[in-house]
Amino acid sequence: MCGIFAYIGTKEAIPFLLEGLKKLEYRGYDSAGVATLDNGRIFSSKHAGKIVELETELQKRPIGGKIGIGHTRWATHGRPSDENSHPHCDCKGELAVVHNGIIENYLQIRRDLAEEGHHFASTTDTEVLAHLIEKFLKKRGTSLEEAIRSTLKIIEGSYAIAVIAQKEPNKIIAARKGSPLIIGLKEGEFFVSSDIPAMLKYTSQIIYLNDLEIATITGYDVKVQSLKGDKIKKESVLISWDPESAEKGGYSHFMLKEIHEQPKAIRDTIAGRVKIESSFIHFDELNFTEEEARKINRIVFTACGTSWHAGLVGEYLMEQYVKIPTEVEYAAEFRYRHPIVDENTLVIAISQSGETADTVGAIWEAKAQGAKVISICNVVGSTIARESHGVIYTYAGPEIGVASTKAFTTQLTIIYLFALYLAKKRKSIPISEVKKMIGDLIEIPDKMERILLKEKEIEKIAKKYYKSNNALFLGRGKGFPVALEGALKLKEISYVHAEGYPAAEMKHGPIALIDKNMPVIVLALQGRRYEKVLGNIEEVKARGGMVISIVSEGDKDATEKADDIIAVPSTTEALSSILSVIPLQLFAYYIAVKRGCHVDQPRNLAKSVTVE
Ligand code: F6R
Repeated sequence: MCGIFAYIGTKEAIPFLLEGLKKLEYRGYDSAGVATLDNGRIFSSKHAGKIVELETELQKRPIGGKIGIGHTRWATHGRPSDENSHPHCDCKGELAVVHNGIIENYLQIRRDLAEEGHHFASTTDTEVLAHLIEKFLKKRGTSLEEAIRSTLKIIEGSYAIAVIAQKEPNKIIAARKGSPLIIGLKEGEFFVSSDIPAMLKYTSQIIYLNDLEIATITGYDVKVQSLKGDKIKKESVLISWDPESAEKGGYSHFMLKEIHEQPKAIRDTIAGRVKIESSFIHFDELNFTEEEARKINRIVFTACGTSWHAGLVGEYLMEQYVKIPTEVEYAAEFRYRHPIVDENTLVIAISQSGETADTVGAIWEAKAQGAKVISICNVVGSTIARESHGVIYTYAGPEIGVASTKAFTTQLTIIYLFALYLAKKRKSIPISEVKKMIGDLIEIPDKMERILLKEKEIEKIAKKYYKSNNALFLGRGKGFPVALEGALKLKEISYVHAEGYPAAEMKHGPIALIDKNMPVIVLALQGRRYEKVLGNIEEVKARGGMVISIVSEGDKDATEKADDIIAVPSTTEALSSILSVIPLQLFAYYIAVKRGCHVDQPRNLAKSVTVE
């Protein structure tokens, strides 16, 4: 996904821009570029490929200036190329624009501008922004802010932009609608960025820009106004993530670091929210009254990807403990299929980034139908958090690896706690059980640590199977979403074709795939469905398949039948998914490493999917 980083201050801008853009690399990109203002003139350099190539070019042909904007592009309109890379300029190269998002009506605007004599250098949607601003700036007495406001009133779609112009050479103008953008504040220096980790090295004091807000950033201050030109008072927020936690911290990949951070992430997520003795469960920004908790008669989880898998676990938990009919919807489907929800429906949107375009759309749709919307989010102040009536933050800290790991287990933690919260309010389970279940959760981080000690063992198993080009993941009950998640992890980072199935469904088709080359990963934890899963393992073995079982410590039967096992500490069925997914994350990680894949930035993927 595209990234923006901009600097204005007392130092040379280029080192900041390159450093900031490198921090945004994890989002996925195919080209990078920068533009600066030096002695009132615009200079730019942009290239398809990695940031190191841009860096090399800048060493050969340096550009100076203490004001600059930078961009990493992830192609949507127009293939990755030097011309299509951002920044984009007007006809005379007197202003430069970087943009994230999609301008939906760009074709018509481009045609109109071309007829008026504008020359386009790229096939992007973004370039119309530069030419529209140019057009408005030509009107006598029009300021840069006014020209940008007029431009933004015309365009349809989503944007986060940063603009510099020769006409007003002492400022950066930033604006957003539907794409995240934040401003970092430091004494005499200001930064603009698409996300927090890129900013943390320089400052933790940030301003979140909201949709349809325009910020004028000079070397002295930040002024924010609406599209109409009304002044908007903004407060800055102190971000408590420490910069170290946004770095790799000695691990070979962010993904591995984040897998290991899970015990801490779960402890942080639980901290201050529960007390066993009083069965206390509290969420600060939930905005959910006792009455609302009692009157809901339906729950809909909506999310994408891994967060959707968390929702599937939620379906089992809500129905079992809160006794309310629950569904799980892909956000992209939910938003467009005229869902039937009303004021008695609780819609729970789940998102790590809080910026996933389809999940934002699903929230809008749910609100339009009158539903109460609560989000489970990792990024504080993100769009999804702000668009929801209430929010429960997962305190996973920044997740940089594209494959979601600690975000998933903290989402599961919150869903479990929220199920207990509702169960308590609705008296659907006895208080004694609520207390016991809180106690079970508190034990989870220590148990996770025991699984992480098995890393070498899991690496060995990965070494045995890494050449297989297919894999099947099977689970029953709450093991089924884990099977889906294990398959997703493997396919996205190692490019191995992997499918997750409810174990019982194997007989209805996938069994035809099984032969000696097909590793089958089976979630075979102790519990109500254990015997049935044993039967599924037999079925795989009878057809020559290779079985890797995730079993409970002390297990005998599944262990005997499997070719390889990874044992996890025992817990209740309700919490089993949080533990059993960890071996699958490590398995996928080591397979990807053995296959020489780019673990943290898998091909074609983006960390934050801010377009539909
Ligand atoms: C997979 C993964 C994605 C995300 C999905 C939703 O490892 O990371 O499937 O889960 O793009 O993203 P969020 O949770 O940010 O809404």
